[in-house]
Amino acid sequence: MPEYLVAAAVSVAVVVAAELVWLRTGLFRSRGYWITVLIVLGFQIVVDGWLTKLSDPVVIYADWAISGVRAPWDIPIEDFLFGFTLVTATLLGWVSARTAEGASKRRTRLDASAVPAAFDAAASRYDALVAASPGYHRALRASARRIGLPVGGAGARVLDLGCGTGASTAALLACAPHAQIVAVDGSTGMLARARAKSWPPSVTFVHAQAEALRQWGLEGSFDAVFAAYLVRNLAEPDELLAAVRALLRPGAPLVVHEYSVRDSLPHRVIWSLVCWSLIIPMGAVSTGDPRLFTYLWRSVLRFDGAAQFRNRLRRAGFTEVDSSTARGWQHGIVHTFHARREAIR
Ligand SMILES: C[S@@+](CC[C@H](N)C(=O)[O-])C[C@H]1O[C@@H](n2cnc3c(N)ncnc32)[C@H](O)[C@@H]1O
Repeated sequence: MPEYLVAAAVSVAVVVAAELVWLRTGLFRSRGYWITVLIVLGFQIVVDGWLTKLSDPVVIYADWAISGVRAPWDIPIEDFLFGFTLVTATLLGWVSARTAEGASKRRTRLDASAVPAAFDAAASRYDALVAASPGYHRALRASARRIGLPVGGAGARVLDLGCGTGASTAALLACAPHAQIVAVDGSTGMLARARAKSWPPSVTFVHAQAEALRQWGLEGSFDAVFAAYLVRNLAEPDELLAAVRALLRPGAPLVVHEYSVRDSLPHRVIWSLVCWSLIIPMGAVSTGDPRLFTYLWRSVLRFDGAAQFRNRLRRAGFTEVDSSTARGWQHGIVHTFHARREAIR
């Protein structure tokens, strides 16, 4: 099968559908857009023509992966399809980000307070969607291991903040099978999915907003806190970090597993490409509503860079702050932040 042809054609269909069905920025009606496409095409022909010339190729394509149609010169037509997708997806990203504050768009966007309710609606599809993300569970387990509780967490009480359908809870359980795990989420739909799974009696689920844990009845001190894909969703992350620090016993660790791409342009580009070619179309098709997934894309672009978030943790009073990044396609995109409440001397 000519895989490159299929992938390039699908990418064009996805980007055109994203504009016509969901974004509706009007980009295709803009003269500037078509002039941009022509300028890019001009440069692409010169550069691509030199790279793919069959007399002395720099880039060689497997014959089975392409249609075999090459023009002008020896350029495979698939390159033009894929180039169109890259340019259009990038411009759509810019245009839709620029109009983020526009009143006509606001009603189609989520703000932080609406996030748990949006997860209610997506809860039934959440597990299938994360199962399609290579390395999702492996990366969660790698982060959970950073908690580093001795003897499988025997005698320890651990908080899983923003537990969702229990993926992060399962990662915690695998690393600390003897700990008492309190798993908290603000979405009743996600919690219902989590509770429906099979758990040992040491795991309990609590419905609470992360911003107001004490008001929702969550008391006591914890030997570790894990927050996977939560902090970016909060309007006031500093307040959450202060509340978490107060819940931790002195010397206990906080591990935050989170997307962070602000420090790196290549990772921002990869993140946008993954979102617009896979996550947003798949999420929209399976839940019937793209907003949670366009929100995901935007919230990650807006969130702190890794250095910024480490500083935020230090400002919140945590010590021994460090971070590492995940493996595979998530490298440079998903990070594990490790910090401790200072010990009493
Ligand atoms: C992307 S899911 C992550 C779930 C799980 N930790 C995992 O790793 O798969 C984020 C979860 O955070 C929850 N959440 C978002 N904002 C919240 C808030 N302010 N308070 C409590 N939960 C919140 C959502 O309901 C959702 O279940």
